[in-house]
Amino acid sequence: MHLPNYKDARTRDKREYKRVFFQIDNKLKNKYKGKKYFIKTYGCQMNEHDSETIAALLEELGFTLADSYLNADLVLLNTCSIRENAHNKAFGMLGRLKHLKQEKKNLIIGVCGCMAQEATVVDEMLKDYKFVNFVLGTHNLYQLPNVIDESIEKNVQQIEVFSREGDLYEGLPVVRVSPFKAYVNIIYGCNKFCTYCIVPYTRGRERSRAKEDILREIDDLITDGYKEVTLLGQNVNAYGKDLYDDYNLGDLLEDIAKKDIPRIRFMTSHPWDFTDKMIEVVAKYPNIMPSIHLPVQSGSSRILKLMGRRYSRESYLELFHKIKDTIPHVSVSTDIIVGFPGETEDDFLQTISLVEECQYDNAFTFIFSSRDGTPACKLEDNVSLSEKEERLQRLNQVVNSYFLKNNKALEGKCLKVLVEGVSEKKNMYYGYSESNKLINFTSAKDLKVGEIVEVEITAAKTWSLDGNCK
Ligand code: 5AD
Ligand code: SF4
Repeated sequence: MHLPNYKDARTRDKREYKRVFFQIDNKLKNKYKGKKYFIKTYGCQMNEHDSETIAALLEELGFTLADSYLNADLVLLNTCSIRENAHNKAFGMLGRLKHLKQEKKNLIIGVCGCMAQEATVVDEMLKDYKFVNFVLGTHNLYQLPNVIDESIEKNVQQIEVFSREGDLYEGLPVVRVSPFKAYVNIIYGCNKFCTYCIVPYTRGRERSRAKEDILREIDDLITDGYKEVTLLGQNVNAYGKDLYDDYNLGDLLEDIAKKDIPRIRFMTSHPWDFTDKMIEVVAKYPNIMPSIHLPVQSGSSRILKLMGRRYSRESYLELFHKIKDTIPHVSVSTDIIVGFPGETEDDFLQTISLVEECQYDNAFTFIFSSRDGTPACKLEDNVSLSEKEERLQRLNQVVNSYFLKNNKALEGKCLKVLVEGVSEKKNMYYGYSESNKLINFTSAKDLKVGEIVEVEITAAKTWSLDGNCK
């Protein structure tokens, strides 16, 4: 048993790690043939991709996918800690699973993901959630087969959570949700320690994957017919810093762009590490999609300082305009937090004016959520919840108006769209443009998913575009 400990999770020292190749214990292969699993995933793309690895590990044990958690022998919650509502959703699901287990005594329940890294959550599992069979930390994913097996064989709650990152595992299996779009991890963890954010404590310090491992994974995806790869990391712009003297995200993007893959995306980019070389590379290669996610969080330099973001309103805007001026037809999206402790009406209005200047193509807006153990959690917060809710509404009105304005400018234009499927409601095809806009469209001829087609835009909406493929 390994329990998480916040003191250790907070340490910032760089630790040596090895690159280890995963191999499943042979005696566990197919041991649970005939059993069914269900995974409920909360949170970001990193978790979605981890769930693809979890699914593959379970399938190596012999489990197959159930159509609902009600029909599963094993239910695993891949949790998120970023805001309180993600937390509450996972606890709500655990409540439902508790009832289910009263009827199905042999149901195995597991908790993994970011909440598993929180000492307070693990304490609750130990005291009040005894029906949870195992808890597995984000640094312990490779132990999943053994932990499941032990929890079943011994019938004792298993807790395996390292507070800090361990070795970097390569060769973990993966069952991808899509046959043409793939996530590829390039860097794990985060060293930025923004004062509101729990991620550095739940995901550890930055560790880049070796470029050879990434490039090999992409070659395999190309062989398998994949059309789009999204390079993933909490802060992809820090790629390579911990591993190489002279090889960064710009170099990696360039090496991938030279391959025969039609679409490359990457996320998330912290403005601090965005180099001119990266901007030039994105502008130069047509298969690197002109779509940048550049979280700003606030338009007030005073709040940005309190958030520990390492840039000011002015330096963010300078970078934003450089990106807009250098990359043709680029779309930029962002994340914004309102109601950070001490945010005044004037600070908030600076966020609004920054949005008016940047006219984002998409924005994810949040009310500050105090996370235990982060520095911001100790700041005095004199803004009431109703005031924060009102600011969020005002902000959403402004960001939405720019989504519509930007989409309107695309009416009559032809965009390249990767066909993802047919929407059941409208009986139209749907897919995403190069600039990451959702397009619903009709087509005179039958199309295949995974195809890239030209679509003429006929009507703009706030969150999508309608079109026609001739
Ligand atoms: N409260 C509200 N939003 C948060 N985010 C991260 N931590 C918090 C928090 N404590 C938001 C940031 C980040 C996005 C992934 O989630 O905007 O960019
Ligand atoms: Fe959190 Fe900041 Fe790291 Fe993003 S860069 S994961 S907001 S600490």
